[in-house]
Amino acid sequence: MSRGGSRTSGERSGEAGTFIIAIDGPSGTGKSTVARRVAAALGAGYLDTGAMYRMVTLAVLRAGVDPVDSTAVVEVLEGLNFSSPQGPGHQAHILHGVDVSDEIRGQDVTLAVTPVSANPSVRAWLFDRQQLLAHSGRMVVEGRDIGTVIAPEADLKIYLTADAAERARRRHTQNVGAAAGSHVSGLDLAAVAQDLERRDTHDATRAHAPLQAAADAVVLDSSSLELSETVDEVLELARSRGIR
Ligand code: DC
Repeated sequence: MSRGGSRTSGERSGEAGTFIIAIDGPSGTGKSTVARRVAAALGAGYLDTGAMYRMVTLAVLRAGVDPVDSTAVVEVLEGLNFSSPQGPGHQAHILHGVDVSDEIRGQDVTLAVTPVSANPSVRAWLFDRQQLLAHSGRMVVEGRDIGTVIAPEADLKIYLTADAAERARRRHTQNVGAAAGSHVSGLDLAAVAQDLERRDTHDATRAHAPLQAAADAVVLDSSSLELSETVDEVLELARSRGIR
């Protein structure tokens, strides 16, 4: 598979009916929900690349390795085996045979995922898998660097934003809703805002594949949009690119 760096949006050589919709942006914009709903509406697959970084991070923590020790982190990658579900409904994330879907959303992983995802060896290790799956048919792919690095030739690139206070509020509401399922972070709103700020600053300023909108991405500010309005907007953009 080519790294595709020289092609730009819409210049894909894929088979008829296949497509890639890239949805990038900072945390707490509703990206995951929007991406899943868009995938479901189009009968497409959905790939959550953030979950892959979280799986690696959980494996690092379980191995007792310091997430900032880049050499030791790379050793954890050897023999690492986890699933990459592609259904837009409930996704079971399996690490070495065990469902860790709740655990990867917990506070320990959320705090440690920043240095792990900034590690160039981890990014290189995940690159092939992400690129292969992104190009596997009709796919909606969510992350930070999909439109810039993983699929620069995507048929549609969305960069989803929302103002910081609104993102913190949404993430907090999501955490509270999920708290019934244990494991999940019990941070209060101010701490959630601080954590989002910390992660986004790191993601946007790291040396490798920083969070940024592709030059040809459609920037959608969802601050004052209902979820369904954002989904409709993305579907409308998809239709305008011939995606059905
Ligand atoms: O979307 P998320 O919060 O589950 O992502 C977890 C972390 O992984 C996030 O802090 C940024 C990182 N990430 C990344 O660097 N590149 C991606 N394509 C997806 C996520």
